[in-house]
Amino acid sequence: MEIFKRIVNYCRPYWGRILIAAITSGFVGSLDGAFAYLVGPVMQSAFKDMRIFAVLPLGIVVLFSFRGFCRYVNDYFIRTAGQLAIQDVRNEIYRKNLRLELRFFNRHQTGGLMSRVLNDVNMMQDGVANIVTGIFRDGFSAVTLLGVLFYRNWQLAIVSLVVIPATVYPAQKIGRRIKKISQEIQGRIEVIAIILQETFSGIKVIKAFGLEEREVANFFKKNSDFYYYMRKSIKYESLSTPLMEFITSLGIAVVVWIGGYNVMHGKMTSADFVSFVAAMVIAYNPIRKLINSYNAVQRSLGASDRVFEIIDAQPEIFDLPESMTLGRAEGNVEFRDVSFKYIDDYVLKNVAITARKGECVALVGPSGGGKTTMVSLIPRFYDVAEGAVLIDGVDVRNIKLADLMQQIALVDQETILFHDSIANNIRYGKPTASDAEVEAAARAAFAHDFIVQMPDGYATNIGDRGVRLSGGQRQRVCIARAILKDAPILILDEATSALDTESEKMVQNALNNLMANRTTFVIAHRLSTVLHADKIVVIEHGEIVQTGTHEQLLQSGGLYKKLYDMQFQDT
Ligand SMILES: Nc1ncnc2c1ncn2[C@@H]1O[C@H](COP(=O)(O)OP(=O)(O)O)[C@@H](O)[C@H]1O
Ligand SMILES: [Mg+2]
Repeated sequence: MEIFKRIVNYCRPYWGRILIAAITSGFVGSLDGAFAYLVGPVMQSAFKDMRIFAVLPLGIVVLFSFRGFCRYVNDYFIRTAGQLAIQDVRNEIYRKNLRLELRFFNRHQTGGLMSRVLNDVNMMQDGVANIVTGIFRDGFSAVTLLGVLFYRNWQLAIVSLVVIPATVYPAQKIGRRIKKISQEIQGRIEVIAIILQETFSGIKVIKAFGLEEREVANFFKKNSDFYYYMRKSIKYESLSTPLMEFITSLGIAVVVWIGGYNVMHGKMTSADFVSFVAAMVIAYNPIRKLINSYNAVQRSLGASDRVFEIIDAQPEIFDLPESMTLGRAEGNVEFRDVSFKYIDDYVLKNVAITARKGECVALVGPSGGGKTTMVSLIPRFYDVAEGAVLIDGVDVRNIKLADLMQQIALVDQETILFHDSIANNIRYGKPTASDAEVEAAARAAFAHDFIVQMPDGYATNIGDRGVRLSGGQRQRVCIARAILKDAPILILDEATSALDTESEKMVQNALNNLMANRTTFVIAHRLSTVLHADKIVVIEHGEIVQTGTHEQLLQSGGLYKKLYDMQFQDT
């Protein structure tokens, strides 16, 4: 009921359309009623006065044309109202999704989330359309036809209604089953979506390891799981109509029996009897549709559960009313006894470092040590478990998120580019940037030369996942993006790892320029890139084991010297 109310709430803004639909369904319903009401008497008088047959065909055409017109208007407005409501749901789930923090996305797979936005929302739409048509069109028709039944012969009408309670119980039982199965079905679609997403994005690995057959077999298996539940659902849905037909036929049988008896004994005119039976037979259609709608609504409630689960997910990282605004920060960053865990185990333990305005701090150490984790605490991709990260002395948790993000430019190994022109990909750093600014940033990142050689220069669209660029080129586009952003704090997490030695040198020069007036955190495997850092922090197992300049650290020995010796053995 709760979910049902929420779905109805989404329809509320479109009440105008729904009102038009309600009025036209009123016409359709009344015409159905009128038809049932008149069919008996008209036939009776027609057989008395054959001239009626001259106008009757015209009347039928006019009546049905008008009914058809009303149905058209009704259908159009009901369905567009449903689509609009669902469009709102889809927008909301997307917007809510983007507000959630990384932790949420670690828990949910991409394909699964896509499946909810597409498949589950579609399934919901089915329900919304059925709720609206069900309540207004079929419900209204059913009510007017029942009105005719009562007007004609209330005793018989009551008899005919006796079967309704008999239909409610099985309908409800079947509906509940369908809701449950529908949830299973949506779950299987989600699994299929996850497989698809992983297969297509990992196609290279699948091919390289010759695992096509295995993946195909896996897909077949998952697809047949889907069929297993689909079959169940079809079974119950197909059962629903015949069962209802059987029960209503019992009602009709009883009515015909009693009605026929009454007509024979002159207690009821044959015209009344014909009208009554006609109304019953016509009423049967909307009632059947109502029951089918009920099943569709049950199905969509299952899907809605899954949609609302995401819409209702509470972000753990959000602005508080007392969060402060921040213009351009100076760029002093402090990690004050920071501890952090993703799940159970501490990944950072009592980390304490400061980076003053304009300083370059290098984080080095074995992989898995916690370097990436550390820098991801600055833009609050995650929040610390203990301690605090401060910018200019203010806890990042007290700064408005949008303002915080303005302070930080990030380049990491994952060179994510969007399906858009190169210029726009660079412009991600500053949406209002002019073409000249974009070009200047590209030049500074040593990306300009290869960009102008592309077919459409800066307007070249980067294909899916940027396949038309090499790893180094992609990285340079990402660096240009960060340059354009011109933020006081710069985070470079293996930002030059995909570059060859030569372009790395060029980009390093660009980065050196870029780093000049900003606080920079550099994470690099190649120690040659961090030799000149103001401060080198060595991190192992989530703890700072050494801090100092290159010379200091070499002299004091320990892990840094070990790493250094390993890398420079050959030279
Ligand atoms: N999203 C995540 N969820 C759970 N554990 C993670 C996640 N990211 C990293 N870790 C774990 O945190 C530790 C530190 O990882 P990371 O910060 O990426 O190290 P580094 O960047 O120094 O190589 C590793 O043990 C890694 O397995
Ligand atoms: Mg890392």
